[in-house]
Amino acid sequence: METSSTLSRRGAEIAAKSIRDLFKSILKDPYDEKKNPNGFVNMGVAENYCMVSEVAAFTNSHLGFTKLDFTYGEGPWGTSRLRKAMAAHMTKYFNAISPVDPEDILVASGVTSLCEMLGFTIADPGDGVLFTRPIYQAFEPDFGLRAGVKPVFTSFEGIDLFSTGCIAKYEDALRAAEAEGTKIRALMLCNPHNPLGACYPKQTIIAIMQFCQKHRLHLLADEIYATSVYEVDDPNAVAFTSVLSFDTAPYIDTDLVHVIYGMSKDFAGGGLRLGMMLIRNKELMGAMGAVTQFGWAGLPSQEIAATMLENEEWLASFIQTSQKTLSARNALCRSILDSKGIKYQPGSNAGFFLWIDLSPWLKPSGPDTEYKDAWEAEDALTKSLVEGGVFINGGKSLSSDTPGRFRIIFSHPEASLHEGFARLFKVLGIK
Ligand SMILES: Cc1ncc(COP(=O)(O)O)c(C=O)c1O
Repeated sequence: METSSTLSRRGAEIAAKSIRDLFKSILKDPYDEKKNPNGFVNMGVAENYCMVSEVAAFTNSHLGFTKLDFTYGEGPWGTSRLRKAMAAHMTKYFNAISPVDPEDILVASGVTSLCEMLGFTIADPGDGVLFTRPIYQAFEPDFGLRAGVKPVFTSFEGIDLFSTGCIAKYEDALRAAEAEGTKIRALMLCNPHNPLGACYPKQTIIAIMQFCQKHRLHLLADEIYATSVYEVDDPNAVAFTSVLSFDTAPYIDTDLVHVIYGMSKDFAGGGLRLGMMLIRNKELMGAMGAVTQFGWAGLPSQEIAATMLENEEWLASFIQTSQKTLSARNALCRSILDSKGIKYQPGSNAGFFLWIDLSPWLKPSGPDTEYKDAWEAEDALTKSLVEGGVFINGGKSLSSDTPGRFRIIFSHPEASLHEGFARLFKVLGIK
């Protein structure tokens, strides 16, 4: 019998890359202190868990859909109402130096879709985008899976990637990639950074802008955690600076700077599937607008988002509560880790995660051991944790260059956090 694939070459190539099975095991049986104490504790997926019930309550009390919400509306580019509300939000919360124009905003079904569309519009297959090591794990498939863009990961080897010293490393990475025939098209500035949970100082943002200008690269500023920045008791913490908050003209052409944002994090609305991008480059807006129908955001979601954004009083209180809760969880997470002598990235004051160092707990690797290298030992630890009922992301999946790092999500109710840590420590053999 014929056993060869009936799919296209590209379809056959990606068939084994779906993460559906992983998600099934992590998400199918969620822990709940009272209703499901034996359920799985998912400290791997970055959601604003503590705030989702507020969004649900707001939606239930403030929205009534009309028949228009079940039509194609104004087409795939985003409703005027949502683009206006988002422009006002960015102007206010990103501390924009000049008002954001709703005409410069494109709406799509999540930042995931926007990145895929960017891969298609700013790069040809085989071209590259510069990323830090480590970096949010989905950028690689977002840009690579369909558009065929190569991730060019930059290692910083002892240099703080948030310092201006990062530029020399980006220069090296760009030169090495181009020597191998990979044309670099863009640099991803993930600020606040996922997975490091820290913000870039303004001087580094400027240096990155100058680097992009020199090489004519698009600067993709993913600021999806812009308002999930909070108080921490850590002298290394740096306040968030948006690329919209200062005059960038002396450093880079406005045509090269794009801001990526969405509802999944700051608004605890991952299920809304809404991403927004500020694009002041008319040609890029044209190209992105030509493919948006493949990432068309649903009208009911857009109505929910617009209603949240327009209700300034509710939103201010929501953001304040979210920041307070994240600050408290960050502090709790740090104190638990401190009490067990587990080290973590200094300066983390943003996002839902801490970047922790479990390398002392990796099993031995190398000749005459069970694991070929420390990466295999890290995979084995991730697997043991899943078997122990808790999931955290191993650094390998986040393109870390040092084995043994893990990203731990702390935006959970306290009981889930305590249970997750108890399971983690049990697997690590920490009393
Ligand atoms: C930095 C960053 N960008 C983008 C995304 C994806 O956002 P969306 O849910 O809008 O696709 C995430 C989600 O974890 C993220 O952390």
